[in-house]
Amino acid sequence: MKVILFGATGMVGQGVLRECLLDAGVESVLSVGRSPGGQQHAKLREILHDNFLDFAAIESQLAGYDACFFCLGVSSLGMDEARYRNLTYDITMAAATILAKLNPQMVFIYVSGQGTDSTESGRLMWARVKGKTENDLLKLPFKAAYMFRPAGIQPLHGIRSKTAWVQTIYVVAAPLLSLLNRVAPNYMTTTEQIGRAMIRVARDGYPKPVLESEDINRL
Ligand SMILES: NC(=O)c1ccc[n+]([C@@H]2O[C@H](COP(=O)([O-])OP(=O)(O)OC[C@H]3O[C@@H](n4cnc5c(N)ncnc54)[C@H](OP(=O)(O)O)[C@@H]3O)[C@@H](O)[C@H]2O)c1
Repeated sequence: MKVILFGATGMVGQGVLRECLLDAGVESVLSVGRSPGGQQHAKLREILHDNFLDFAAIESQLAGYDACFFCLGVSSLGMDEARYRNLTYDITMAAATILAKLNPQMVFIYVSGQGTDSTESGRLMWARVKGKTENDLLKLPFKAAYMFRPAGIQPLHGIRSKTAWVQTIYVVAAPLLSLLNRVAPNYMTTTEQIGRAMIRVARDGYPKPVLESEDINRL
């Protein structure tokens, strides 16, 4: 399986990258990012790109892939709807639209989050925007698309969040999170479980397009 990864420098993306590099069934990983990941590996190639609303300049390098793991995303904290929508919906759809055109056999997996609002009309701004993003991704002509909706995510293997307040919470609450992961799989998963689940879903499919924490942990 040849994989394109977005968000490889982030907390979720670092976890997904780790599992891809460890999995013998993943032949290669192309990471598309705006900053270097700082990792070297025989299976890993990196493209640095600065305009995530327009991928025309690197289009020729995005064909021939079996799966895209889209882990790029931002927290909505302190952002107005227009800005959050630009960084969430517009970037994701710009990337996914070109990938669907170039790779009709691709499986596309998007990380949204627990509580995402498929009706696009609820009270929570972030949930509406992620809901619209999910809904429109599911309409693109991929072989299949899956929406991962994790709740809490425990970073493992030294992985850190790029968002300072998120990282602080994870460090302070680490023992509680380990416990929660065991006793409340509906509310907690790990970067390792997400990475492994993405690879399995891309390879074998899943009975439904939206996967909650419990689905991710079961895989
Ligand atoms: N962390 C959680 O507990 C959690 C829980 C549920 C859902 N999620 C979702 O999972 C996704 C990833 O979260 P995360 O915790 O991994 O975030 P993170 O650690 O903050 O990483 C964000 C990633 O997105 C990239 N990125 C952000 N803005 C960008 C832009 N304008 N252009 C290009 N790249 C950009 C970052 O690249 P740079 O390195 O260049 O900044 C980084 O690779 C998000 O959609 C989030 O809502 C997270």
